[in-house]
Amino acid sequence: MTDTMENGTNRSFLSLGSNLGDRLFFLTQGVQRLDECPGIRVLRTASVYETDPVDFLHQPAFLNTVVEIETDKDPQELLFACQTIENDLGRFRLVRFGPRTLDIDILTFGDQRVDLPGLTIPHPRMESRQFVQVPLMELGTGCLSQSPGVRLFRTAWLYDDPALPDLLPERLFERLTTERLGRVLCVRPETVSTQEDLRRLSEQGLPDGTVVLADRQTGGRGRLGRRWESPGGKGLYLSALFRPSREAPSPEILPLAMALAVRDTLSSTGADVRVKWPNDLVIPWKDGRSFRKLAGILCESVSSSGSIETILVGIGINLAQESEDFSSDLRETAASLAMCPSATAVPSREDLVLRLLSEMEKQGRMWESGAFRGILDAYRAVDMLQGRKVTVTTGNQVFEATAEGLTDRGNLRVRPDPAEASVELAAGEVTLRDSTGGNHT
Ligand code: BTN
Repeated sequence: MTDTMENGTNRSFLSLGSNLGDRLFFLTQGVQRLDECPGIRVLRTASVYETDPVDFLHQPAFLNTVVEIETDKDPQELLFACQTIENDLGRFRLVRFGPRTLDIDILTFGDQRVDLPGLTIPHPRMESRQFVQVPLMELGTGCLSQSPGVRLFRTAWLYDDPALPDLLPERLFERLTTERLGRVLCVRPETVSTQEDLRRLSEQGLPDGTVVLADRQTGGRGRLGRRWESPGGKGLYLSALFRPSREAPSPEILPLAMALAVRDTLSSTGADVRVKWPNDLVIPWKDGRSFRKLAGILCESVSSSGSIETILVGIGINLAQESEDFSSDLRETAASLAMCPSATAVPSREDLVLRLLSEMEKQGRMWESGAFRGILDAYRAVDMLQGRKVTVTTGNQVFEATAEGLTDRGNLRVRPDPAEASVELAAGEVTLRDSTGGNHT
C-alpha cells in the first residue's frame, strides 16, 4: 500500500486518535495541521471510528482515523512534526496508553523499516489493532466495516466530504440486522456500475456479504447487455457478493430467491408486486391488462477452476421516478414505486436498503442450505407469467407460446403455439404477448 515516489517523497500512513474533550475537533485539527505543515500533504482520510480502549481500560472511548500523506521529510522529521502538532493541541499524557487529546502514530513510511529509540516503523502493533486495520481497509478498498470494539462514527467529517443524507453508512450500520450482508459496505455517491465495483472487490478477496451501494450510476447494466437507467436520488442500486461456504448448490436458483427478496421488500409498501421469470419485478398497470417493470436483477458468476465460487447479485429498483424521468423508449413499460397505484407510501432509501438486505440474507440462507422447494413454491405463488400468452426469444429463435410455470430446476416451462409438447427454458427472454414487454429489458 505504501511506496517511495520517484520525486524522492514518500507515502506514509498515520493513525490519529483522541479521547478527551471535543474528540472530533481534535482529529479535524490534527488533519488540517498535518496538511499545513511544510513538506507534508494529506492525500486521503478514512472515516472516523469510535473505539473502545484496549490497553488501559478505564478511560473514555477513542475516536480514531487513518490518513495517507505524501512527505519529503525523513521518518524522524515526520515524527517531530507529529509530536509538535500533538503538543500544540495540548496533549498531556499522564499514563502510557492513557487519555490524550490527540495522538498521531506513524504506521508505515514508504517501504522503509526503521528501528530507532522511540520510533519503530512499521508500527509494531498496527497488525493487531482493529482501530488501525479497519480504517486502513477503507483506504485500500473504499469499503467500510466494523469489528468488535470499533464502530463507524462519522463518514463525512471533513468539510469537503460528500454525504448522502438518506444513505449514511453510520446510520445503516447502527440499524443493520443482518449477520453478513452489508457488514462490509461501500457507499458511493456516483459510480459507473456497482456491479463492476463489486467484481473488483471480489478479486481483492473481500468476504461473502460485501455490498456496494450507489446514489447514481453512469453505466448501470441490465440483463442481456442492456442499460439500467440510474439517476441520482431516484432509485436503489446495489450489488452484493455471495461466496457460498461450500460449492454453490444450483446457482440458477439464486436469482429466483433474490427476486423473492426484492418482491417481499417492495410488498411491504402495500404494492402488488409480482415476479416475471427469471428475475424481473413487475406491477399490474392501471389499464388492467399490462404490467410495468419496477425492478430488475442481474446475477453474474465469477468462477474459477470449474466450480462456482462467487456470485455478484446486482439489484436496481425504480423508486421515485415520474414517467418523464424515464427515457422515451422506457416510458410506456417502466414504473417506479411512486407511480405504483397500490403502494401506500414510498419508504426512505435507508429503510428500504435495510429491509432488502435482511430479506436477501434470509433467501440466501435458504438457497445455501438447499431449501429449493420453499423458494420455488413461494415464487410460483407470485409468478405473473403462469398461464399467459407469451413471446419467447432464446438464442436466435423467436416463437409464441403459453407459459406453464416453473419447473423444479427453476426453468420456465412453455408450450409453443399451436399446442405442441412443452419445452423447458433455462435462459432467454419472455414477454407478454399483449404488451411491449419488460421495461429496461
Ligand atoms: C435487469 O433487469 O436487466 C437487471 C438490472 C440490474 C441493475 C442493477 S443496478 C445495480 C447493479 N449495477 C449494475 O450496473 N446493474 C445492477
